[in-house]
Amino acid sequence: MKIVESPHEAYAHIDHWRRDGLRIGLVPTMGALHEGHLALVRQSRQECDVTAATIFVNPTQFGPHEDYAQYPRTPEADFQALSELDVDLLFVPPQAKLYSEGFSTYIHPPAIAEPLEGVCRPDHFRGVATIVLKLFHILPATVAYFGQKDYQQLAVIRRLVEDLDVPIRVVGCETVREPDGLAMSSRNRYLSPAERQAALSLWAALTTVKELFGAGTDQVAELEKAMEQTLYERGANRIDYARVVDCDSLQTLGRVDRPAVALIAAYVGATRLIDNILLGERGA
Ligand code: PAJ
Repeated sequence: MKIVESPHEAYAHIDHWRRDGLRIGLVPTMGALHEGHLALVRQSRQECDVTAATIFVNPTQFGPHEDYAQYPRTPEADFQALSELDVDLLFVPPQAKLYSEGFSTYIHPPAIAEPLEGVCRPDHFRGVATIVLKLFHILPATVAYFGQKDYQQLAVIRRLVEDLDVPIRVVGCETVREPDGLAMSSRNRYLSPAERQAALSLWAALTTVKELFGAGTDQVAELEKAMEQTLYERGANRIDYARVVDCDSLQTLGRVDRPAVALIAAYVGATRLIDNILLGERGA
């Protein structure tokens, strides 16, 4: 596995592979890798000739009171895991290489960034859209892999790629969970044993809503109330949102009369967790 820090060097590798006609997979991450990230890498390895991964904790997607400084950083373990999976290229830029002095150009994210996370984390998707487009320029791969765990992020990236004619195919991959249902997340390492138990409240709420929907309940107000109740009963201490919305537009629904997605952002102790589940057929 070749590890590079400079955007020029990273571009040169991809450019070389492109000239050879290879199918190039890209897996952008912020590191502190877990099985969810590694599943993206495995899918890329299976579907592409070469795979590039990136590790960069992107400051512009964190709010001023968020966990940028504390965000877990485990470079040695990450390098080891990626090299065991035979990743061909790992791009680990220092911050100054991506945000040089005077940096001031940002992507204004698409409308689908506005609800849900957009309300709770106002500049988050501006930062995500900006860094993802930068990575797509530095590493012009054939296919880029993202997780459905970050459902709205995936929708934002799909829209960005379509709106700005970015010549990369975006593939969404299923959420990888612990055996008890907790969605894998780098932030799970913040949880104490008691909080780890309470974190199951998200999966409990999502399975509850899926069951209710399966049994014929299609009123969104009823489904959302059941999610909130389960979240609080099972130990979440604050809910940012627990919503059932159209799975493509993320717009509010009164009844689930088309494919929908249930999305949660909730706090367990001081840790903010997100998760989602599809209701019906289609998804981002
Ligand atoms: P990060 O949180 O490190 O996630 C990197 C990728 O892994 C994202 O596409 C995310 O959806 C996916 N992922 C995380 N947990 C997952 C799980 N349990 N199952 C499946 N996929 C999972 O998302 C980001 O970084 C950043 O916003 C980034 C896109 C890299 C831009 O900075």
